[in-house]
Amino acid sequence: MQSKLFTPYKIKDLTLKNRIVMAPMCMYSSDENGHVNDWHLTHYTSRAIGQVGLIIIEATAVNPKGRISASDLGIWSDEHIEGLKKLTTLNHKYQSKIGIQLAHAGRKAQLKTQPLAPSAIPFNEEYQTPQELTIEEIKQTIHDFKQAARRAKEANFDVIEIHAAHGYLIHEFLSPLSNQRKDQYGGSEENRYRLLHEVIEGVKEEWTGPLFVRISANDFTEGGNTPDTYVPYAEKMKAQGVDLIDVSSGALVPAQIDAFPGYQVPYADQIKNEASVATGAVGLITHALQAEEILKNNRADLIFIARELLRDPYWPKTAAITLGETIDTPVQYERGWRFK
Ligand SMILES: Cc1cc2nc3c(=O)[nH]c(=O)nc-3n(C[C@H](O)[C@H](O)[C@H](O)COP(=O)(O)O)c2cc1C
Repeated sequence: MQSKLFTPYKIKDLTLKNRIVMAPMCMYSSDENGHVNDWHLTHYTSRAIGQVGLIIIEATAVNPKGRISASDLGIWSDEHIEGLKKLTTLNHKYQSKIGIQLAHAGRKAQLKTQPLAPSAIPFNEEYQTPQELTIEEIKQTIHDFKQAARRAKEANFDVIEIHAAHGYLIHEFLSPLSNQRKDQYGGSEENRYRLLHEVIEGVKEEWTGPLFVRISANDFTEGGNTPDTYVPYAEKMKAQGVDLIDVSSGALVPAQIDAFPGYQVPYADQIKNEASVATGAVGLITHALQAEEILKNNRADLIFIARELLRDPYWPKTAAITLGETIDTPVQYERGWRFK
């Protein structure tokens, strides 16, 4: 039996050697200027050596106020390109594809300055009350995403993922719980989608490569978005040319979530099959058989792994052994598989 996890996956002109994606994970390891340093080069490249098909680097801020913390990576200036290019070059050298998650933290920015958001509603009492974005500031933010896409292209990334999940800026616009605007960016579902629509259009002016969007398919709170809300949103994204929707959930408002292995997979499944768009499944997926079940039952197209890849940078090898597959081992490590 040929496993699906180790079957290549093609998106536009890009071919991933397997379906294993390293999910974006903030490392909070940069300096105030948001530059790539030795930590990022070592951390991501270890997973490339570990044979991950696609590595999506952490939420990278499109402008300084859009950082979650003062040690986030940034892509708001042309000065960031050199470090990011060094990272893509190294990862390509070890035959992994590499993407970048473009992000704005919105009201969840924890900086000294006042955060920005669709409406002046704080995440909870421990967060600052944000300033409601003016129309001019919204346009500037869209421009910042567009410029970030240009820089990502110059840095040779293979994939751009727009971060529209986890209660950060774009998600805040999408949900009626955090967006109570009275203008064209608030109110109806269409109006709440407008920022994401315009960000995608802006990015596309600079980027023709594979484009992913990460969403939170469930706000887990009365009055918030649900997977049903996201089916029409996913159709809109697909119509705009988005290649894959990375389906996460939660983190918009403090909510009780019963997280168990594969708990977000039904959302990826519903969106894939009802909106006819490729999806990525993520969330407590740690075992190769779990990944294989999701792929073979057509519940998602790619498997995003986060914490398991922090524990085991060589998880693809672990998964290959479980599935009876042979994958490349760096020549330097071959003796690790000889037991005599
Ligand atoms: C240390 C850490 C940092 C994270 N940072 C990000 C991030 O930058 N962007 C994002 O979309 N999700 C982020 N996440 C969420 C993961 O991408 C993933 O969705 C989540 O951990 C569930 O997958 P897992 O069960 O495989 O860990 C982070 C998770 C962890 C553990």
